[in-house]
Amino acid sequence: MRRLQAGYAGLFWVIMTLWTTSQLLAQPVHSLLPLPAEMRWGQGRLNLKTPLKLQLDNSPDPAVGAAARRLLTRLQGPTEPATGPLLQIRYGQTGRPEKFDEERYSLRVTPMGVSIDAPTSLGALRALATLEQLPITEKRQRYLPEVDIVDQPRFAWRGLLIDAARHFMPVAVIKRNLDGMAAVKLNVLHWHLTDDQGFRVESKVLPRLHQVGGADGFYTQAQVREVLAYAAARGIRVVPEFDVPGHATSWIAAYPRLASNDSVYAVAQKWGVLNIALDPTRETTYSLLDSLFTEMTALFPDPYFHIGGDENDGRQWRRNPRIAAYMKAHKMLKADGKTVDKHQLQTYFNRRVLAMVQKRGKIMVGWDEILGPDLPQAAVIQSWRGKKGLNDAAKLGHPVLLSNGYYIDLNYSAASHYDADPLPADTPLSAAEQKLVLGGEATMWAEFADSVIVDSRIWPRAAAVAERLWSPQAATQNVPDMYHRLAAVSAGLETLGLRHRRAPEMLLRQLAGAADVAPLRTLAEVIEPVKEYKRHFQGFAYTTQTPLNRLVDAAPAESEVARRFGLLVDSVLAAGPAAPGRSAAVARQFAALRVQLLQWQSNDTRLQPVMALHPTLREYRPLSVQLEAIATVLLERLTQLQTKQSPSAEWLTTAKATLDIVQKPVGQAELAIMPAARRLIGS
Ligand code: ACM
Repeated sequence: MRRLQAGYAGLFWVIMTLWTTSQLLAQPVHSLLPLPAEMRWGQGRLNLKTPLKLQLDNSPDPAVGAAARRLLTRLQGPTEPATGPLLQIRYGQTGRPEKFDEERYSLRVTPMGVSIDAPTSLGALRALATLEQLPITEKRQRYLPEVDIVDQPRFAWRGLLIDAARHFMPVAVIKRNLDGMAAVKLNVLHWHLTDDQGFRVESKVLPRLHQVGGADGFYTQAQVREVLAYAAARGIRVVPEFDVPGHATSWIAAYPRLASNDSVYAVAQKWGVLNIALDPTRETTYSLLDSLFTEMTALFPDPYFHIGGDENDGRQWRRNPRIAAYMKAHKMLKADGKTVDKHQLQTYFNRRVLAMVQKRGKIMVGWDEILGPDLPQAAVIQSWRGKKGLNDAAKLGHPVLLSNGYYIDLNYSAASHYDADPLPADTPLSAAEQKLVLGGEATMWAEFADSVIVDSRIWPRAAAVAERLWSPQAATQNVPDMYHRLAAVSAGLETLGLRHRRAPEMLLRQLAGAADVAPLRTLAEVIEPVKEYKRHFQGFAYTTQTPLNRLVDAAPAESEVARRFGLLVDSVLAAGPAAPGRSAAVARQFAALRVQLLQWQSNDTRLQPVMALHPTLREYRPLSVQLEAIATVLLERLTQLQTKQSPSAEWLTTAKATLDIVQKPVGQAELAIMPAARRLIGS
């Protein structure tokens, strides 16, 4: 939870915390996320006053000792050689994530010490991630609760895609996100390295790719190796993506002979699906790809190699008479026998690329567009356009990954991502087909995220995906409980070095300048960027050069303040009007709502002078007025509920008109309290 604000807000949070705690008394008080497969809690505790002493018998994998020492430093600070209770770690052998080696572990905390047992070092690393989430602070004492955990993942592939092409993400950004991934047991970094807007890795054989395509940022091969080692030390594999034949304008800018027409392209600065594609009919295209893939398959040791394959509608192929003639000559025709069929040409391209990748001992992964009747089963399909893609591919015998439902760049709630399941109870897949479901990946596309704010677009929501992919399905149906644990994880991630809370706060301070940041924060905390890709279509033309430093960029993807407000609204509505003699808890909820609404109502008067001073804030002045307007209506509604008055028809008409007005996005941001406001008003 953010720092308490003065006055009303402080009281609000105290009441909210009391209320939330009372809701959760039935749950064991812990913040483990992902939830372990099995846990049995005891009554004892291990006080952390005396530093734990690491005992690591026979550890062939240096990653385990390093991870344990990092954990102990975070847990208890740098200590002299410790003499306290033992943290004992035993595992069988070095685990190789790229071989899907076992991640199973057991973790036992007793008042005497901690012991971790696992078949492989990967299990030991996962156990340490669990251990880090265990400490509880009570009466200024930190302790580990007595517990017996036996745990293993539901899915072997639990990924996070980071798009470093749209906005370059320096090594430090990748590393701290790898730390975040390890903390929630994500085990695959899908590194989206190339796109229309950038080619982000040094190529020694085709240097124009990074010189031209990565002019505003690329990773040297030494940096790539540094990231790979950092990931490996955390039990995380790195799967690179080189997106072809579409999404490749940066390649064509570097090597114009790759183009499907005679145009000359610069690295794209525009966003969107450009439908610019490599020419799949020329041998020179394949010889260039072969050189590049020979180099890159050696640089990236993981057996999986992602070739993209998404979003190419083939218009450049159809429009080029030479390519159209090629399709006709090779009978790449639709059922009518006349019209050229782009899909067949792309399948031909895919098969050529697959052969190159396989020659280098790799397994090819592609987005669901690459699926076609002639695609060999060895290719892994990553489904992003819908669940159907996943099921269709598995039925055809392809290993599959789910990303549909895990698009964290769309600014949807953690709950919505949590709800998406690669294998829901009603899966149409047979037992054999289900085995082909490797897992899934959260995708952080970066049109609207630069290296400063990207953490805040990933975390904490990616952790909800991590739990969906790790934890048993039956144990993960309680959404309020997930949010309770997500809040704790979010705080822990900041301690690890993630900047998902710090960076937006710094942006707000920068926007407020010399003025008090508090009223700006109050507004920022209840707004969200518009969902999906609507930011492209609201009168503001974004390019790669647009600074992402406006109020919308400091707004959370999912407003925690709005979510808690919604819970409070629902509990007040469920309780009905507060009458004399009603429970004190209900009275407190009404009071908390009123406190919050009064804060929002009075905020605009404080904020307008700040906004007037700063050109970059001026565009958001209507949004602040909208917050005041909705708060005023909701305060009236609260009084009606408390005094058991039914709203008049006239009042309702005016209230609904206000709702419609304040719903309007401003500066590509919108008030996140609107669904709860509508429920309170009953419209
Ligand atoms: C994608 O989102 N185009 C894979």
